[in-house]
Amino acid sequence: MVDLLVENLLYEMLLVTRTNVTPVGVVRRGNSLNFKLFPGKSFRELKVDSHVAIQATNDPELLVRTALNLPVELEFEEREPYRWIKGLPGWLGEASCAEETWRDEIGETKVLKCSLKPEEEIPGRLPQRPFTRADCLLVEMAVLFTRYLVSPRKAIRDEILRLYTTYRRLGGSSESAEYIIGRLDRSQ
Ligand SMILES: Cc1cc2nc3c(=O)[nH]c(=O)nc-3n(C[C@H](O)[C@H](O)[C@H](O)COP(=O)(O)O)c2cc1C
Repeated sequence: MVDLLVENLLYEMLLVTRTNVTPVGVVRRGNSLNFKLFPGKSFRELKVDSHVAIQATNDPELLVRTALNLPVELEFEEREPYRWIKGLPGWLGEASCAEETWRDEIGETKVLKCSLKPEEEIPGRLPQRPFTRADCLLVEMAVLFTRYLVSPRKAIRDEILRLYTTYRRLGGSSESAEYIIGRLDRSQ
């Protein structure tokens, strides 16, 4: 089933570690699923226990709420040493990770570069959902917002507000979008 992922294309998926769920950008190269993690809870957990699940979702709210640590309703399944979200398709395996130094315009930080060769498939199916551009905008807002939390720059804030204007014009009205905008205003 890894063949479902087009090679070299970045997919936004969910990474399940010991006690945490976070969205992660995943790129398939051959049989490996590659992702990188910046410091945070998943980063810390993965360094202690590298058994993970990588799962697909087409629910933007789930990607955004897990990124922002807002409450989500998820059921989990477990079989030592693995834990995964019930019902979402994906893979289980042991990630091989290497810590590196990452430099960009924000500055210097650590990054964990990981590669997973799936050992087992997780059965599941994605709910039917028609496509809406509002979903893309919400996810993009959340990605930028997680960067803004690390480096609160005006350029990022302006870009989030620009995306939000279009999001609203398209009919978007989610609580997580309002949460992002609320936190932007308060941090000025
Ligand atoms: C769609 C989306 C994709 C993300 N992809 C990554 C990623 O690949 N690596 C990463 O370190 N953070 C990524 N983030 C940011 C993390 O979700 C965010 O920094 C989070 O606070 C770290 O989670 P944790 O502390 O629960 O591990 C992404 C956020 C969103 C909304």
